[in-house]
Amino acid sequence: MFGPLVSQSVRGLERRRVGTVTFEAYLRVLRRRWPAIVLILCAVLAATAAAIMLLPPAYRTSTSVWVGHDTEGQNTWDALQTDQMLVRTYAELIRSPEVSQTVAAAMGAGWTRGRVESNVAFKTIEGTHLIQITATGLDPDSAKNLADTYARVFASLSGQTAGLQQARVAVNYPAPKPGHPFKPKPKLYGGIGLFLGLVAGLGGALLIERLDHRIGTEEEAVRLLGLPVVGRIPYTKDGDAANPIQREAFRMLAANLRFQFADSRSWALGVTSPGPQEGKSTVLGRLAGALADMGTNVVAVDADLRRPSLHKSLNVKRSPGLAEYLAFDLPINQFLQPSGRNGLAVVGAGPSPPNPVMFLESKRMTSLLQDLEAIASFVLVDTPPTSVAADAAIVSSKVDSMILVVDLARTDRLQAQRCLEQLKQAGARIAGLVVNGGRRVGKTTYGEYYGEPKESRV
Ligand SMILES: Nc1ncnc2c1ncn2[C@@H]1O[C@H](COP(=O)(O)OP(=O)(O)O)[C@@H](O)[C@H]1O
Ligand SMILES: [Mg+2]
Repeated sequence: MFGPLVSQSVRGLERRRVGTVTFEAYLRVLRRRWPAIVLILCAVLAATAAAIMLLPPAYRTSTSVWVGHDTEGQNTWDALQTDQMLVRTYAELIRSPEVSQTVAAAMGAGWTRGRVESNVAFKTIEGTHLIQITATGLDPDSAKNLADTYARVFASLSGQTAGLQQARVAVNYPAPKPGHPFKPKPKLYGGIGLFLGLVAGLGGALLIERLDHRIGTEEEAVRLLGLPVVGRIPYTKDGDAANPIQREAFRMLAANLRFQFADSRSWALGVTSPGPQEGKSTVLGRLAGALADMGTNVVAVDADLRRPSLHKSLNVKRSPGLAEYLAFDLPINQFLQPSGRNGLAVVGAGPSPPNPVMFLESKRMTSLLQDLEAIASFVLVDTPPTSVAADAAIVSSKVDSMILVVDLARTDRLQAQRCLEQLKQAGARIAGLVVNGGRRVGKTTYGEYYGEPKESRV
């Protein structure tokens, strides 16, 4: 009996929930894209200000002529009728070309009938004998002059109108000189500019959100992927490795991981990211250095057999490396290279094989990780991006946990979600996100300010 009622209210609830989600999505767009909104708003306001300043000002003033007739010998009713008829007649006559032609001649050089006509307007004032003449001009004097001349010329021409000899037309009062231009109106234009700027800003923000697929903010990364943030690495100019703020960021990442993996056993951690050039190898190399500086034994393994770069950043040889180890039956210590830093050894990638997936899938890769865990507390494994190949997913099934790097200015939102999906399908455990490329930092030295020793390099 209550079935339809219940299902109706559930539908209502769902609708409300969807509504809330959309509203939240809009709020999120506003929060993410506020710089674009401010920029567009400022651009529109600047254009409005320029228009207000560049538009020539226009002045407007009015005068009126009185229209009536001699009432002798007429009763009041007839007189009233005649007056009304006269006002209507003269309201038409005032627009006639003869009048504007004569006004143009009276105004002097540069005046034509067309110019006069486009600068005057007429209105009968209901219930009176008055016809109002409004004139506009580029300065107060020319507006006043045109209104007065028109009234004077019209009054004098009216005396000669055939058939209307009884009528009288008189200039009521001289037009006042306008004090302020009636155009442009800064407040009105400014209000319109503000409104249009906001609309354009919001529209622009929504459009950018649709067109821009990058993650953009840490908040968005966390919302999309639902993973904890284990590290925040700011950008440095030209990848400046000595930047103290960045060094501190890597130390915090290292400390977080040591805390998360605080056990007597060793851990193998893979590092990957959805796309290329998002900082996987940079993060891995610098993290390995930070861990080693904390007194933890680390082996960094370059399992990005497609585009290896760890050997460059850690200053070792690319070959002999992982590819050779997996291909030949040689002991691992022939491939372990010292990094020149206490506690950090490196296995380069070796030459790129045609089928990295087969190499990484091998049992020998699994046993390698076990062997390395026996000699180091952390084995860090670099991988290619998940959008390029299955390599990272394969590695993720062999290591204890994965670190997912996202570059706020590069990583594609959809690719990031697919990356997470891929790792989950491979059964990976994910330690968390390293957000690369937050606030840009230059050469300001907070570290040194707090008395950090200069020789400690991550
Ligand atoms: N936080 C950062 N600040 C400055 N440069 C960075 C940062 N992260 C990465 N880079 C630079 O970006 C480029 C790509 O980084 P890399 O670690 O090789 O990416 P991936 O291994 O994901 O392809 C490198 O030149 C690196 O120096
Ligand atoms: Mg790399």
